[in-house]
Amino acid sequence: MSQYVLAVDQGTTSTRAIIFDRAGTIVSVGQKEHEQIFPRAGWVEHNPAEITVNTRDVIGQALAKANLNIGDLAAVGITNQRETVVVWDRHTGEPVYNAIVWQDTRTQPIVERLGALGGGAERYKAKVGLPLATYFSGPKVTWILENVEGAREKAENGDLLFGNMDTWTLWNLTGGVNGGVHITDVTNASRTMLMDLDTLAWDEEIAAEMRIPLSMLPEIRSSSEVYGAGGPGGVLKGVPIAGILGDQQAATFGQICYEIGTAKNTYGTGNFMLLNTGEEKVASENGLLTTVCYKLGDAAPIYALEGSIAITGALVQWLRDNLGIIGSAPEIEQLAATVDDNGGAYFVPAFSGLFAPYWRADARGALVGLTRFVDKGHLARAVLEATAFQTREVLDAMNADSGVDLTELKVDGGMVQNELLMQFQADILDVPVVRPQVAETTALGAAYAAGLAVGYWDGLDDLRVNWAEDKRWEPKLDAGERERTYRTWKKAVTKTFDWVD
Ligand code: G3P
Repeated sequence: MSQYVLAVDQGTTSTRAIIFDRAGTIVSVGQKEHEQIFPRAGWVEHNPAEITVNTRDVIGQALAKANLNIGDLAAVGITNQRETVVVWDRHTGEPVYNAIVWQDTRTQPIVERLGALGGGAERYKAKVGLPLATYFSGPKVTWILENVEGAREKAENGDLLFGNMDTWTLWNLTGGVNGGVHITDVTNASRTMLMDLDTLAWDEEIAAEMRIPLSMLPEIRSSSEVYGAGGPGGVLKGVPIAGILGDQQAATFGQICYEIGTAKNTYGTGNFMLLNTGEEKVASENGLLTTVCYKLGDAAPIYALEGSIAITGALVQWLRDNLGIIGSAPEIEQLAATVDDNGGAYFVPAFSGLFAPYWRADARGALVGLTRFVDKGHLARAVLEATAFQTREVLDAMNADSGVDLTELKVDGGMVQNELLMQFQADILDVPVVRPQVAETTALGAAYAAGLAVGYWDGLDDLRVNWAEDKRWEPKLDAGERERTYRTWKKAVTKTFDWVD
């Protein structure tokens, strides 16, 4: 039997292919960044064709590094940046527009128009679990159909397909115009604003209100089943593609959050905390999203509450790329360590408005509390602290919604290598923060879903034994100081409101 499973992780900043063995250990990694395109303030795009090329390249890299070939792969899983939209011509495979990225805010007028039909931001919430916001896919599709010449007509004729990055990647890997399968999974579909959380089917009324023809939409399947095989001419020729999970759900799955009440927090471009609520769909009273966590084949769907933060790691990138204060992202830790505290500075990175728990499209970033005392070390600290404070706001909302206080937080993602941040995170949450040995839990979760579908792993117990703790940070900060600084953060947040009319 083939010895390995490969996961493709099509993320916001890069695409990776990671090969895992049965113990869930990383065997090799291929990775390539893609261009971030910012045509105007608030707009964020990716080139889908570049991502397709990168996907093929990183799969080749990962296989070559491990000296393996596709015959060694039992299955492939796909995980992806969620909500990002591609619309393409089914006959040529050409996208009609760049991918519109989840952080993009251009759909605000469409969102307002839909809300004005009645119900405001809550219009679809009972059905889809999400507030009307620029974050989600549906209105991005509407924007393309309304703004790209000829797109509406082609869509009405059935010539265009829509997909999030999972669907785009799967369609291309399974042959593209030569028989590519047009499928998504329930977790990705739950981020479009178009899927009914109870029936797990597209909601025709919502699609009609957004003027999206149903013929564009992919078929919704479970997160773990064989969808197809690598196309005849492709890098994965004949290998079953058997798992799809949106990246945050994949990380939850890779972190073994299979019990009700278990949660993880991923530190990527943004931060995303998911709490498993089992077969029950919990409606949030505190600014969280209700989403599908995973669905394994024919088993019942498992739901989650999610706290989404748009900008965390992206703020470190901004400091590097837009201000040039650091040369590489990890340097922020050394710079922050040159000072003892934030010197009174607070940085609220409301670059895409504020997501959970506020959902304020009118907010924009603010750096407050400045005096002549503040230097770049304080700024670096304020940048890191912004991630921890935003996470505290989400954890407070989780505790309030679930009625149970989380007693520790499992973390993963790039920023969890930053010791200073992890200590501050534990301090500000007042619960221990725990990092697993394999911090690449997003790719791992997708590999698990694919491996389960083909019998590479027999069941969840096979996966549970693979999780091992690497490091734990215990809270140390004095309670008075913790609450004082958190109060000041809350005040800083209010300074970002009402910035955009
Ligand atoms: O919802 C957006 C999220 O899926 C993006 O994740 O890790 O690519 O920033 P990441």
